Amino acid sequence: MIDRLTLHNYKAFQNAELPLGPLTLLTGLNSSGKSSVLQSLALLRQSYESGDLALSALPDEEHRAGRRTNVADKGFLLNGELVGLGTGEDILHEDFSEDEARIGLAVDEGPYHYGWTAAYEPEQNLLPLLDVELPDTSEGGRERPAGPEAVTPAFFTGPFQYLHADRISPAEFYPRDHQVAIGRGFLGVRGEHTVNFLRHHRDDAVPTGPLRHPKATSDLLIDQAAAWMGELCPGVDIRAEAIKGTDAVSLSYGFQGALGATKRRRPSNVGFGLTYVLPIVVACLSAQPGALILLENPEAHLHPQGQTRMATLAASAAAQGAQVIMETHSDHVLNGVRLAVKQGRVTPAQVVLHYFRGNGTGAEVVSPRVNADGRIDQWPTGFFDELENTLDQLIA
Ligand SMILES: Nc1ncnc2c1ncn2[C@@H]1O[C@H](COP(=O)(O)OP(=O)(O)O)[C@@H](O)[C@H]1O
Ligand SMILES: [Mg+2]
Repeated sequence: MIDRLTLHNYKAFQNAELPLGPLTLLTGLNSSGKSSVLQSLALLRQSYESGDLALSALPDEEHRAGRRTNVADKGFLLNGELVGLGTGEDILHEDFSEDEARIGLAVDEGPYHYGWTAAYEPEQNLLPLLDVELPDTSEGGRERPAGPEAVTPAFFTGPFQYLHADRISPAEFYPRDHQVAIGRGFLGVRGEHTVNFLRHHRDDAVPTGPLRHPKATSDLLIDQAAAWMGELCPGVDIRAEAIKGTDAVSLSYGFQGALGATKRRRPSNVGFGLTYVLPIVVACLSAQPGALILLENPEAHLHPQGQTRMATLAASAAAQGAQVIMETHSDHVLNGVRLAVKQGRVTPAQVVLHYFRGNGTGAEVVSPRVNADGRIDQWPTGFFDELENTLDQLIA
């Protein structure tokens, strides 16, 4: 698990150290830096997957000479499958000091620290590495044992999902890409591979534990997904099927009504929210221990009760060993997380809250804590206080 993320001269953050937990909520005003945090992790993973991120330190003599030859073709890959951040000019923090035009990203996984510093190249979308910090694997070093895994953060190679705020909408068909959906188990940043993933893994069992929905007709992924979707729309069932003769798959819904099951309905005829949230449901339900799941606005297009239930689902994925980091604007998601703590689904220590607010020159972060009763120890101005503010005016 990533316990800490450190950002230096990266977008809105001049210097920030963010503790992360099994379940982390990123909240705050629009344009306050929440997505940038998720993007920094995606940037590292994307750079690693494309082979662009060096996993060995610079030899000392290279350092002394101020050269970076052994990592000359390595760096932060700003534009790729997970994120498109532009060029160096876009990501270097605007108020950087001239003698320090470099961008640093670092993660701590338990006692292991990994850091990368890249040079600022305004026009480039591969920012060359200047420095790499890795756990000490030398003899006598108390860090990870030597070997290829020693210098690789677990989140580079473990199961990973990243769902953007802008996800799939109802459609007649979705892509059938075996390599991405089945080979890599990746749902796509818009969740575009979810239907194919679900079609292939429909009969996989959801393990015993909080993720298993008690009202599902079976422990199979397809029925479990339907049961969690039933929290948004009671009685719904889902089908994900190949479309013969094409490289596409289709999604359909059925409903249990008073007169039995309805006929199948296509996504465009059952409302937007169901399909929009399907990738979130599948990402959480299929999360394996050690997975990293980054979610932007899981509440989008859901009614309030559904938003709370999505928080329960995310908390359950965290309880079963995944690390979930989600950006949200929803007090229902926050309250769903608080309830999950109160119900013992997750412990207070597993929940981390960050509230981002601009301070004129960049982002400032306040981190309220949740206690075992689900109570929050501080409510900074702007932190989910709008309901109260509006009610005050209504009753005045
Ligand atoms: N290079 C940069 N230097 C300083 N601030 C930046 C830079 N790039 C983006 N920002 C700031 O970051 C904020 C956007 O962050 P983002 O994570 O997209 O917001 P949100 O909280 O809505 O997800 C904006 O306030 C923007 O001005
Ligand atoms: Mg955002």
